[in-house]
Amino acid sequence: MDTVVVTRRIPQAILDQIAAVASLRVWQEEEIMIPYEVLLSWVPGCVGLYCLLTDCIDEPVLSAAGPDLRVISNMAVGYDNIDVLACTARGIPVGNTPGVLTETTADLTMALLLTTARRVVEAADFVRSGRWRTWSPMGLTGQDVYGSTVGIIGLGRIGSAVAQRLQGFDCRILYYDPTPSSQAKELNAQYVDMDTLIVESDFLLLHCPLTPETHHLVDAEFLAKMKPTAILINTARGPIVDQQALYHALCESRIAAVGLDVTDPEPIALDDPLLSLSNVVVLPHIGSASVATRTRMAQMAADNLLAGLRGERLPFCVNLEIYENRSD
Ligand code: DGY
Repeated sequence: MDTVVVTRRIPQAILDQIAAVASLRVWQEEEIMIPYEVLLSWVPGCVGLYCLLTDCIDEPVLSAAGPDLRVISNMAVGYDNIDVLACTARGIPVGNTPGVLTETTADLTMALLLTTARRVVEAADFVRSGRWRTWSPMGLTGQDVYGSTVGIIGLGRIGSAVAQRLQGFDCRILYYDPTPSSQAKELNAQYVDMDTLIVESDFLLLHCPLTPETHHLVDAEFLAKMKPTAILINTARGPIVDQQALYHALCESRIAAVGLDVTDPEPIALDDPLLSLSNVVVLPHIGSASVATRTRMAQMAADNLLAGLRGERLPFCVNLEIYENRSD
């Protein structure tokens, strides 16, 4: 029977659907990613690869897999972990999971925004460490999200879902996107150039994909233009932010705080200086982590994989150009 490699434990009912058509090789750990060397040794001869955003699927993995590999399915909407051009060159379709995690990730962005603005983690630590003596007029004061100016970089699915939530907070919404959004008007989001967005935002939210153009988009120069009272939130991809520059900006009070659901690398090192700062909230990439959404993502990735194994078009394919010269 043909072999499919699955790089992490996923719900058994979904594994069973794949097992009905292929023999499975599953990395059984839930909290430990498959080491790259193990992946290289597992893929030779496999026909399908079901992977996660933590797996680096590059040219060496593709050449180790060999010519039988018919489909790669990523259980994520982002696919910066995959060398898509190399897959396309080999005629391998790559699947992802757009749409299904939009609302859940937007919810988490709001949670991180409010947590960071209102210093919720600091306040909870304050109680637990026995420092709460009395109500204090200016103690643990933060910033209002209500009525603020929020800048969104990337008004795609998730950025738009966040903008929709912000309507309820009466925010002025600015956005920058290389492709202006057709939904902007109904979201009350005003298109501005990047510099205007950086300079005017009280809260700056990153919702763009990681590409060579957005790598270290938030660098020292970017941070220097932000308001000293501004807060940066990243629920997109860690490498969009230059973390060293971010640390220095925070130490020098050039911005007020930061909320990161994604870091570079992941996990962030325990001795990373960012973790020593009280105005930094770091979460372990849980944007899409609701039971319902993660289950739907796992199923959607399986649907992509199964379609690819049958030689059909993937329901959600990131390199559609591979079908251009085919008759199906
Ligand atoms: C994705 O799917 O790309 C998200 O980062 C997972 O939460």
